[in-house]
Amino acid sequence: MAKYLIVGNWKMNPSSKKEAVKLFESVKKGIRAVKNAEVVVCPPFVYLTLFKGLTLGAQNVFYKDEGAFTGEISPQQLSDLDVEYVILGHSEVRRELNETDEVINRKIKECLLAKLKLILCVGEASEENENGKKAQVLEKQVRGALEKVPSKEMKNITIAYEPIWAIGTGKNCSVDETMTSALLIRKIIARLYNMGLARNLRILYGGSVNSSNSAQYLESGGVNGLLVGGSSLDAGEFVKIVKSAG
Ligand code: PGA
Repeated sequence: MAKYLIVGNWKMNPSSKKEAVKLFESVKKGIRAVKNAEVVVCPPFVYLTLFKGLTLGAQNVFYKDEGAFTGEISPQQLSDLDVEYVILGHSEVRRELNETDEVINRKIKECLLAKLKLILCVGEASEENENGKKAQVLEKQVRGALEKVPSKEMKNITIAYEPIWAIGTGKNCSVDETMTSALLIRKIIARLYNMGLARNLRILYGGSVNSSNSAQYLESGGVNGLLVGGSSLDAGEFVKIVKSAG
């Protein structure tokens, strides 16, 4: 069986280099013996060069490979630092930086050229969920992000289902709803590409994951791993989540 993918998204934390190194080293030590999970740590850009020994991911990127783009970081620069993954389309970036599906699509294409793997985040807001708009929102986000992305590249793309109402709220999505949402995403991929690709697509769940609920998603949520925010900042908690993968 394929390994579960457990991704720690540190967001804009911690606030010092010292704490970042301590967190990274504790995670590295804690998961040394783990066999059933592929673990990716996504720290803020500024800490990426400090870490060795675990797979690294970035939390965002720009859609050009170099040039006059003040404040931005290119896929090529990340790749050169041995970063393997990039999280794209996170709801916080969509909300705070007005990132659109079109921009996400450009970023995905540039990342693929730089041989980076993507974790594309999609998910509905709470009103959309209540108004029965989930399927529509997921369809728009997935189609928009993957416009003209060739099927041969899809092995480099993982989709994270992150309902906005579950992020950082403690109101995690039920296992049943996670399963239905993962199925909706597979159906969209089957329509855009084909069934085989949809079946093999890696889907993660993210939103208030902790060590008490992680195992249930992996066992019965129809997903291939987890995208962990808040709980990835506590090494003990994150290690327990990784260990819940088996
Ligand atoms: P959370 O965040 O685990 O703190 O809810 C998940 C995410 O935003 O990736």
